[in-house]
Amino acid sequence: MLASAAREAARSAYAPYSGFHVGAALLFADGAVVQAANVENASYGLSLCAEASAVARAMNEGRRGGLVAVAVVAEIAGEKPDAAASAEPVMPCGRCRQMLHELAALGGTDPEVIGVANGSLLRVPLSALLPHAFGPANLA
Ligand code: THU
Repeated sequence: MLASAAREAARSAYAPYSGFHVGAALLFADGAVVQAANVENASYGLSLCAEASAVARAMNEGRRGGLVAVAVVAEIAGEKPDAAASAEPVMPCGRCRQMLHELAALGGTDPEVIGVANGSLLRVPLSALLPHAFGPANLA
C-alpha cells in the first residue's frame, strides 16, 4: 500500500530543526514506487520537502511521466511515537505541487494525491490542488 511506503520513507527524514518528519511515496504506471523524506538544513530556508526530494529522485532515475499517485505522511517527532502519522493529513506545499505537476504533465496524468493521517486518508487529484497549472505545455 502506498501509504505504508510513505510511512517507511518518513523514517529517513532528516528534520532536526522542525521535528516534522515527512515521507512521500510516488507510484508509477509500471508499478514502481519512489520514496523520499524531507532533508533540512541549518540554513532553514534551504530545507527540501519530502515530495520535492521524491520528484528529484524519480527524475534522476530517468522517469518522465507515468505518475499515478502520491502519498504523503507526516509525524511530529516525539509525539505519539506509535501513531506514525499526524492527526490531520498533510498535503504537498505549493512548491511541491508545482514540482509534482511537472513530472505528471510529462506523461499526461493527473495523479491522486493522498494525505495520510492517523486513521484517515484525504484523496484529491493534483489538478484540484493546483488548478490552471503552469507547466511544460506553456513553454512548448
Ligand atoms: N515538509 C515536507 O516535507 N512536505 C510537506 O508537504 C510540508 C512540509 C517539510 C519541510 C520541513 O522540513 C518540515 O516539513 C516543516 O515545514
